[in-house]
Amino acid sequence: MIWDLLVRVFHWALAVFFLLAYSLAGSRLSLHVHVGYTVGLLVLFRIIWGVIGSDSARFANFLVTPQKSLRYLLEMVSGSSVHFLGHNPAGAAMIVALLSCLLATTLSGIALFALEGSGPLANTFVATWPGGLLANVHDLAADICLVLVILHVFGVFISSVFNKENLIKSMITGKKKIRSELS
Ligand code: HEM
Ligand code: HEM
Repeated sequence: MIWDLLVRVFHWALAVFFLLAYSLAGSRLSLHVHVGYTVGLLVLFRIIWGVIGSDSARFANFLVTPQKSLRYLLEMVSGSSVHFLGHNPAGAAMIVALLSCLLATTLSGIALFALEGSGPLANTFVATWPGGLLANVHDLAADICLVLVILHVFGVFISSVFNKENLIKSMITGKKKIRSELS
């Protein structure tokens, strides 16, 4: 058992709510905002769980330098990478990128909402920020998240093929098979 229940529920809830937030953006603003808050709360939960959570969920147990992530990718392609029971170094880099981007999207969304006189930052100095710029930042951040998600899912498939394991099933059941060359 490698992924605790909270990590798994967090993951699939985040996937659903992110895709919902993105697709509701143009049409249903009030639903978009509520779904967006949920994404923000899920990210906050994951950051806290990354500090106090189970062993494999803790950032300290899987975060590495960008150089190590890159080296791992090259080793995986050349077939010389070791197997990781928790997140591998490339997956770890993607997790940092995804969580940071989602946080930026949520925060810029909240700032944009303040300009419309609503949300927790309405009537604060944030409501005086330039609207056009904020809208562009929010749009761009959301689009970068979408690109990262596509790369993330692609990476999950590639890693599953190269390492001959079903990572998607593991994110559902929480279980992974232990190998002798485990890292
Ligand atoms: C439906 C498509 C998706 C699939 C198949 C998928 C699959 C996975 C898998 C298998 C892992 C574990 C990787 C590992 O073993 O190292 C993972 C982790 C992760 N994924 Fe996804 N994912 C999907 C969509 C998303 C979306 C839309 C987001 C964010 C918006 C996301 C964010 C994350 C995060 C943050 C982690 C780290 C989990 C943790 O440690 O808490 N995923 N994903
Ligand atoms: C990860 C979560 C989120 C994603 C992926 C997302 C995505 C988007 C996208 C793509 C747009 C542009 C729509 C267009 O160009 O027509 C947009 C607009 C907007 N979003 Fe978000 N957003 C998120 C969270 C939030 C949050 C938390 C809030 C506020 C609390 C928010 C408030 C807004 C507002 C006010 C607009 C402008 C809508 C308009 O006036 O047309 N968003 N969002």
